Amino acid sequence: MSERSFEGKAVLVTGGSRGIGAAVARRFGSLGAHVAVGYRSGRDAAEALCAEIGAAGGTAVAVAGDVAVPAQAQAMVGRAHDAFGRLDVLVNAAGVGPYLPLAEIDEAHCRAIFDTNVLGTIMLTQAAAPLLPSPGGRIVHFASRLAFNPLPTSSVYSASKAAVVTLVHGFARELGPRGITVNAVAPGVIETDMTADILRERGEQILAATPLRRIGQPDDVAGVVTFLASADAGWVTGRTIIADGGLN
Ligand SMILES: NC(=O)c1ccc[n+]([C@@H]2O[C@H](COP(=O)([O-])OP(=O)(O)OC[C@H]3O[C@@H](n4cnc5c(N)ncnc54)[C@H](OP(=O)(O)O)[C@@H]3O)[C@@H](O)[C@H]2O)c1
Repeated sequence: MSERSFEGKAVLVTGGSRGIGAAVARRFGSLGAHVAVGYRSGRDAAEALCAEIGAAGGTAVAVAGDVAVPAQAQAMVGRAHDAFGRLDVLVNAAGVGPYLPLAEIDEAHCRAIFDTNVLGTIMLTQAAAPLLPSPGGRIVHFASRLAFNPLPTSSVYSASKAAVVTLVHGFARELGPRGITVNAVAPGVIETDMTADILRERGEQILAATPLRRIGQPDDVAGVVTFLASADAGWVTGRTIIADGGLN
């Protein structure tokens, strides 16, 4: 991938206000893309990131929306498209991940996780598909390593990410004839707000089980996403790429 591989292309990154999404947005900006930084509550963080991308010579706008609310997911995609007059890539990094033991799982917990992680994935894909270039459009969603190997207490979150793996496979079949690829990244433990408690409680154990002997950082995932969004990944679709430092 060259330094300006995404020159002139427009990318929406949901969950761009912090964590992995922010690293992905920053990386696209450095590769020449126009970036729409999606956020739900972190307006200041999203605007600060846009200013940072702008100061580095890129173009970025912050777009608000709760991906768990279909009308807002749709509006977010529309605003990203309108901001740059095109939309080449959708990256959906918005996600929520609280864990609960079986006895404490209730309806609100299930709905909160499935509405953002699953319904959001579906509605964003539906809204973006007609706007993406055909051929050449790219969609990258976020699954998790836990989709394949749930921890005790992570069952609902893990199941929501297993749904993403299957949705990506199915949507890739629907959008393939239009030359649009749909893939997912499944990170292991990456150091963000989402994993602060896990790393406090089990950081040493996770480090010991990681062949690369460090804790994953948001930037470790950004390059996998830009690869899947690049022209070089045109023959990869319907797949979920695990990026976990080889975690055992
Ligand atoms: N960190 C890990 O170890 C790990 C591992 C596997 C998979 N993942 C997945 O990777 C993605 C990014 O995770 P992360 O660790 O970067 O999370 P994070 O630091 O907790 O950040 C979550 C981001 O998602 C946004 N968001 C949450 N719910 C939303 C909603 N309903 N609508 C719109 N935006 C919403 C937040 O926006 P606001 O702050 O603006 O509200 C924030 O930008 C998630 O899908 C997560 O499940 C993470």
